Amino acid sequence: MLEINKFDRIIVANWKLNGSIHFIEQYLQELNCSKLENSNNCGIICTPSVYFHKLVGRLNPLFLGGQDCSNYSEGAYTGEVSATMLKDASCQFCIIGHSERRQIFGQSNEDVCIKAMNLIANNINPIICIGETFEEKNQNLTKDIIYTQISKSVPKNATKDFVIIAYEPIWAIGTGKIPSLEEIDNIHSFIKNEIQNIENYKILYGGSVNSNNASEIMDLKNVDGVLVGGASLDALEYKKIMNS
Ligand code: PGA
Repeated sequence: MLEINKFDRIIVANWKLNGSIHFIEQYLQELNCSKLENSNNCGIICTPSVYFHKLVGRLNPLFLGGQDCSNYSEGAYTGEVSATMLKDASCQFCIIGHSERRQIFGQSNEDVCIKAMNLIANNINPIICIGETFEEKNQNLTKDIIYTQISKSVPKNATKDFVIIAYEPIWAIGTGKIPSLEEIDNIHSFIKNEIQNIENYKILYGGSVNSNNASEIMDLKNVDGVLVGGASLDALEYKKIMNS
């Protein structure tokens, strides 16, 4: 598994259910990986798994990531893709527990924990997503929710050397709204300093990140990078964020 400590910043592109072969060819041309500055940044492109083969060997120095993996290793589970298969397809990172998987597909913290264990067993670095809803934020429950999600989703054998946590307030995803910089830093500091066994993990912020706000977010003391959805579909936007 890749040691993530050596990187200054981690910048994840989450394509979600977007892309096509045509899109990928154009994206790679615009991204022009060989011209990316800042070799201390870790760029990860998370695409639908059917397109991995179109990206393998063409992203260097960036890495390829998945967007979910099965709870199961093999067997009669129609439609699933296992961690072993992701590894076979040269995937080095994988997002798990994204709020869209939790809310639309009913994945629980316990599911996320199993997925993380499967990924670790296959030498894939998990990117574990957590975050509160707008109602939870308004009820002042953000820290309680995050504490529960982390305690239940992060497996016992995880370490800060290879597991990444992404804090994504659900109300900030795809909405153009983001918490204040103080709020982001405060939550990240809470995760890094006050949750047992999670001390000094790499914590990314996600939710409406773009090239205009990425730099001030990543300059925050307790933010180690960003997870970018919508804006990452524009290769030039993603490149700006990588270089900011
Ligand atoms: P967004 O998505 O950047 O479009 O808000 C982030 C995410 O869902 O990971």
